[in-house]
Amino acid sequence: MSDKKTALVTGANKGLGYEIAAGLGTRSYRVAVGARDKARGEAAVKALHAAGVDAFAVSLDVTSDRSVTEAAELIGRRSGRLDALVNNAGISGETGPGWVQDPTTLDIAVVREVVETNVYGVIRVTNAMLPWLRRSASPRIVNVSSSVGSVTWQADPAIEVGPVMAAYSPTKSYLNAVTVHYARQFTGTGILINAVCPGLVATDFTGFQGRPPQQAAAAAVRLATLPDGGPTGSFFNDDGRIPW
Ligand SMILES: NC(=O)c1ccc[n+]([C@@H]2O[C@H](COP(=O)([O-])OP(=O)(O)OC[C@H]3O[C@@H](n4cnc5c(N)ncnc54)[C@H](OP(=O)(O)O)[C@@H]3O)[C@@H](O)[C@H]2O)c1
Repeated sequence: MSDKKTALVTGANKGLGYEIAAGLGTRSYRVAVGARDKARGEAAVKALHAAGVDAFAVSLDVTSDRSVTEAAELIGRRSGRLDALVNNAGISGETGPGWVQDPTTLDIAVVREVVETNVYGVIRVTNAMLPWLRRSASPRIVNVSSSVGSVTWQADPAIEVGPVMAAYSPTKSYLNAVTVHYARQFTGTGILINAVCPGLVATDFTGFQGRPPQQAAAAAVRLATLPDGGPTGSFFNDDGRIPW
């Protein structure tokens, strides 16, 4: 057990999740590095240790009940509580180059896989971690969403929102809606939950187009470390609140 605050970041072995883990580490959090592949998780922990971060690996496939249950048991054994949960793991459902997901030709199996990861995965992990979050004096949950999940922006022809992505974008809209319902349920508990858009980030996800993940991680780190009385049930990017 440790008196340090503990944070769990899902999909933290690379990309944005890795940098969120690093950012929380530099704020003196002990970071549980969620990774579905054990070797990739351990490699990330090694790199974080080299950067001076207190981190440990957690095998965590967000689509697996068993994996998530075992991860929650490990968090309990290692920390006895969880101060911040960052639901970062996500997939695009992209099967080729081009980033176009035409709703009229979507493969339902792909849609199902993206919802399973980006939405059900978040619910599964959040609910499994809640007993440990409730033991924290200031629990925080951050759901990594995207501006392409903003139905308000997607429906506004005056706004440039990128290509039609009928598998991926709606999963982030669904995640946004789920975030609101968690926030409503958490009213009065002290648990703050928000969604964040990191912007376009140079990771495997985008073929390394966009801004550096170190920079993009800042908004998620800020929401994971909000002071008591901070916002909840909202959707943020670097500049502040954005519409659902
Ligand atoms: N990059 C962007 O421009 C951008 C923009 C807006 C939002 N986002 C969101 O940011 C988050 C992170 O994306 P990224 O750009 O960092 O992508 P990434 O480099 O592809 O990393 C995705 C991470 O999620 C993990 N993951 C995927 N499925 C998983 C599962 N079933 N269980 C556990 N982990 C799983 C991956 O693990 P493996 O290494 O094992 O595959 C990897 O660690 C995603 O939610 C994405 O939707 C990204």
